[in-house]
Amino acid sequence: MHNPLIVALDVPGREQAIRLVEKLAPVVGLFKIGSELFTSEGPSIVKEVLSSGSKVFLDLKYYDIPATVSNAVAAATRLGVSMLTIHTSGGSKMMKEAEASAIATANQKNIQPPIVLGVTVLTSMAAEDLDEIGINSTPQRQVLRLAKLAVNSGLRGLVCSPLELEMLRYEFQITLVTPGIRSADDSKNDQKRTMTAQEAIRAGANYIVVGRPICAAPDPRSAAERILDSIR
Ligand code: C5P
Repeated sequence: MHNPLIVALDVPGREQAIRLVEKLAPVVGLFKIGSELFTSEGPSIVKEVLSSGSKVFLDLKYYDIPATVSNAVAAATRLGVSMLTIHTSGGSKMMKEAEASAIATANQKNIQPPIVLGVTVLTSMAAEDLDEIGINSTPQRQVLRLAKLAVNSGLRGLVCSPLELEMLRYEFQITLVTPGIRSADDSKNDQKRTMTAQEAIRAGANYIVVGRPICAAPDPRSAAERILDSIR
């Protein structure tokens, strides 16, 4: 059965990550490895999580010239990750080459291609922040513009905040991955706009990303099970 729960391994090093993987592997769909853990531990942490039988979402948000991004996507595909992220503001040429590279590399290795997920506007950015970098648009309009470009460039998925979920689900039939998930009694931490897991799935998310509400819980496994129970 499709397991939509992605746990973000936002921890500084291998020891903490592996402790969480051991506790959570039987119940979660994928583990997300981001810049902090990858920069400390390198590809060996990806291989180690994969060798435990879990799937990996490599969230390094590539943003570079098309050749560099497509080579990085090929390297991530060879590692065996199931999902990875690129910035849609890299443009259509970069996105088309990234997607083609995922498919071609997976075909060579005879494995399933990873889903190349497009990141649109960082949720930390408000209209003033866009204005500062020369983008004269609201975050919502800019998200929709970049999402359309991503879909037209052949990407099969997007990362989006709870705020954007309904709009993007209405427009597109692609994989939507949504962080910013909190239950009513969780601390919001630095997330401004949140949804519960159940609300996000109902609004059209295919996967939800949860970090601190699981990883910082006294019992991470039962926190993950509670979230899964709420959406099944
Ligand atoms: O701890 P928390 O549940 O807030 O973690 C959410 C995860 O999703 C973090 O790894 C964070 O980097 C990521 N993320 C996010 N908001 C976005 C994109 C990614 O919180 N817009």
